[in-house]
Amino acid sequence: MNNSGRAGPLRTALLIGVAIFINQAMGAEAPATAPHGAMAMAEQQQRLDQLISSSTAPPPGVDPVAWAAIYIPPGNELTADRIALGRKLYFDTRLSKDGTVACATCHDASRGFTDHRNVSEGIGDHLGRRSAPTTMNAALFQSMFWDGRAVSLDEQAKLPILNPIEMGHPDAASAMASVGTDPAYQELFQKAYGRAPNYDDLGRAIASFERTLIFLDAPFDRFAAGDSKAISPAAQRGFALFNGKARCVSCHMINSSNPIGTDNLFHNIGVSARKQNFEALAHQALGALKDGSDVDALDKLALETDMSELGRFLVSKKRGDIGAFKTEQLRNVGITAPYMHDGSLHSLWDVLDHYNKGGETNPYLDGGIEPLNLSEDEINDVVAFLFTLTDSRFAAQNEAAMREQQAYAAKKRPFRDNALAHREVLPFEQRVLGPAGLK
Ligand code: HEC
Ligand code: HEC
Repeated sequence: MNNSGRAGPLRTALLIGVAIFINQAMGAEAPATAPHGAMAMAEQQQRLDQLISSSTAPPPGVDPVAWAAIYIPPGNELTADRIALGRKLYFDTRLSKDGTVACATCHDASRGFTDHRNVSEGIGDHLGRRSAPTTMNAALFQSMFWDGRAVSLDEQAKLPILNPIEMGHPDAASAMASVGTDPAYQELFQKAYGRAPNYDDLGRAIASFERTLIFLDAPFDRFAAGDSKAISPAAQRGFALFNGKARCVSCHMINSSNPIGTDNLFHNIGVSARKQNFEALAHQALGALKDGSDVDALDKLALETDMSELGRFLVSKKRGDIGAFKTEQLRNVGITAPYMHDGSLHSLWDVLDHYNKGGETNPYLDGGIEPLNLSEDEINDVVAFLFTLTDSRFAAQNEAAMREQQAYAAKKRPFRDNALAHREVLPFEQRVLGPAGLK
């Protein structure tokens, strides 16, 4: 063995080391090298390799019986080939009409599997009306989207590709022409489903990949398993408040059979009420949805028009669902800001201010939302608890986000001073309680 034979690999190793160092030095603020501010697809995939192994086994933290019986639809059992196909599709910008947008553009592995925007940006830089939820743990929801209009991950995945302002393919045939003619895909589809490429299997494959994005290994879980030092005393007080005075648990129950912290129901917690005239919009929506509208039409109303703010009403057409949205999961919430269906709340302190004042009053406000009278210390404790729900694989990102939000909250909390004393009293509240009844 001579010297030159060793210098090659050694130098390569050093170069890789330097590259990794530079990468890490640049920190959570990764260079935006793909369109629409996403991390480049190849880099995202490297991140993903560090985060998960594409196992077909039931994920830790989920009951294995429930996993097989509830979370995996019949006919789409998890296999390595299906996951591999879905993963390739998830990162493939050819699924958008102009070739600039993949699922991973808005559900970016380097940005908490979301895009950190108030509302998402699709092809042609079009902005939608809603904030992108994370795809982490989405597999554990009973319905998809803020209004639950898609019944499963498998059905959900087929919608953004055809939505004009997200990925913009005019129809399934156009989407399939862009990937289904590629011999590599033909082989992958054949291996995964034993048939030629088709749109339903495309949805199934992407859903299979998303079923590997389970992130339920947080400091809170170690605390729940008995390690009393796993979370700070402040976070422990916050957990008690969460279950008590702050009443969060009435909608965000979090336990072993319901690990992500949602009741899977829809509530008007007074987020949209900040800006909407619900009555006029509901009227307009009933007109627009009259004659047997299909799921694509509903998708457009939800993402492109003011009717978006009607939430669940668009799906159920029940008045009680006006302005109601799906109870969002609380897992990994530290790294998925901004918050709520319209991305209107920048930090978890803003979220607490929102709940503390009893939401924004409107005639459809959920009965579970009322002023909480939490002190500043109590607010800090609940926020500390919420940051313990982020999976340990994102510990550094979570820490950085907490510092950023803390600094922001110290300077600017738009809803704090607009709190209880300024809460608008509705006519019916006055009738019930008298003018002095609500302060
Ligand atoms: C232009 C940005 C954008 C693109 C591209 C995009 N999404 Fe989304 N995604 C969103 C937004 C915004 C929502 C919320 C829409 C709503 O609730 O009405 C969403 C919702 C979802 C949800 C529901 C999660 C939940 O908690 O209910 C899943 C799952 C999802 N997207 C997966 C995908 C997949 C798979 C693709 C690719 C086929 C994709 N998305 C492409 C922006 C995007
Ligand atoms: C009446 C049911 C209900 C109660 C009580 C409730 N929430 Fe929520 N929560 C929701 C719903 C519904 C949403 C989504 C609302 C929207 O986007 O319009 C939500 C959204 C959130 C979000 C945003 C998540 C994201 O990723 O955007 C956080 C954080 C949150 N809640 C925390 C809390 C905390 C903390 C409490 C207790 C102080 C609490 N919630 C009490 C129903 C509830």
